Amino acid sequence: MKVGVLGLGTVGGGVVNVLRKNGDSIERRTGERIQVVLAGVRNIKQDRICDTSDIELTEDPFAVVNHPDIDVVLELIGGTELSKDLVETAINNGKHVITANKALIAKHGNELIQLANDNKVRLLFEASVAGGIPIIKALEQGLSANKIESLAGIINGTGNFILSEMKDKGRDFADALAEAQALGYAEADPTFDVEGIDSAHKLSILAAIAFGTELQFDKVYTKGISEVTAEDIRYATELGYTIKHLGIAKRAGDAIEMRVHPTLISNKQLIANVNGVMNAVLVKGDALGTSLYYGAGAGDEATASAVIADMIDIINNQTSNHILGWKSQEKLKVLDADLIESEFYMRLLVSDKRGVLAEITQIFSQNNVSIESLVQKQVDGDNNAHIAIITNKILTRDIQAVKLAIEACEFNQDSVKIIHIEPLD
Ligand code: NDP
Ligand code: HSE
Repeated sequence: MKVGVLGLGTVGGGVVNVLRKNGDSIERRTGERIQVVLAGVRNIKQDRICDTSDIELTEDPFAVVNHPDIDVVLELIGGTELSKDLVETAINNGKHVITANKALIAKHGNELIQLANDNKVRLLFEASVAGGIPIIKALEQGLSANKIESLAGIINGTGNFILSEMKDKGRDFADALAEAQALGYAEADPTFDVEGIDSAHKLSILAAIAFGTELQFDKVYTKGISEVTAEDIRYATELGYTIKHLGIAKRAGDAIEMRVHPTLISNKQLIANVNGVMNAVLVKGDALGTSLYYGAGAGDEATASAVIADMIDIINNQTSNHILGWKSQEKLKVLDADLIESEFYMRLLVSDKRGVLAEITQIFSQNNVSIESLVQKQVDGDNNAHIAIITNKILTRDIQAVKLAIEACEFNQDSVKIIHIEPLD
């Protein structure tokens, strides 16, 4: 198999290194040698994490997708414009394409899969979700007997690394993000990681495959981790929870929920203990019940593992395109975010005066929101108090109404913080 690589950064470099390390055993297993013959990069003189002595380098990426000897193109550049042109050209030239680019698939996957089908080539993207974890193959193959009811996961390594460092080492948000960037985990634009866009890309891919819908990235309710404070992490810990950034997709009647947001998870859940760059996806199928998939969510060789697995599938002729979702006639609309039912954590900063708690509980009951537990703490050297509240399961629009009502009260001293709680049962 002659391979042309677009991009020799973290993922592209990882692919070359793993092929050098394991090429012989892959050849023994598949009967085929995978040879990277040509690589398109932005700057040929750039230092690389891999040996490129036997790879021709070019600064013209179209030379790769138009090369007559290349069977498979790996798109490992990122972005959604140049990469789209390159992938389309490769497919139109009859080449199989493998990509780790979730932004590209989430935004243009419906049309690109169609183009690949029309040209009778493969467009595979296992590495686009949860790094090295073979979650797409698990959904399409191992779980294919099941009707999937829900999935929920930590699907961004950078975000999980930041939250873990803040909780376990008391580190500052910006400092932890800088380390994730230095380790090669973050996107070229790290706001994709911290504002949840990257997780939303990945969730839309998983949901399309799991529920047999088209890709609907623009319908994912998305909130990032940039507003999670050390204070919230401390309160969550006291209440027996850990804050994780989750992507959640589940059936809700004849619709589906798709949401990405910080979430309080009980410390008793396995997923609450998934730390650092590790990802984990919990899938509930009607036959198997709940199963959990865990592994490195980013990084050079971990991601290369998924990219190379797609190449091996092509050699073994083992997979058609990731079309489970596109094949289905099932049309599931996405539930409006206001109508999502959830338990919530709410944190308030209020004047520490008699009667304030009574006013707060009255606002809750006027909006049909019942309180499950409440913790109040005096703020040192101040006449204010923090109140952390856990609600029962309620409609999102009702907790939003409570937030607005409290923020309009004179006793309120800061914007009211709301975070979802997910029981994951
Ligand atoms: P890097 O920034 O490390 O590498 C990007 C590569 O693309 C570089 O080699 C760069 O060349 C090359 N490149 C950029 N622009 C051009 C261009 N115009 N023409 C030719 N080559 C170009 O990115 P990553 O490896 O981290 O990410 C690649 C893709 O994989 C992205 O879609 C990302 O979302 C995805 N991904 C990343 C993971 C990770 O852990 N990093 C994990 C899973 C998916 P040069 O080196 O010369 O600058
Ligand atoms: N930036 C992504 C992450 C890379 O941190 O998860 C893996 O998709």
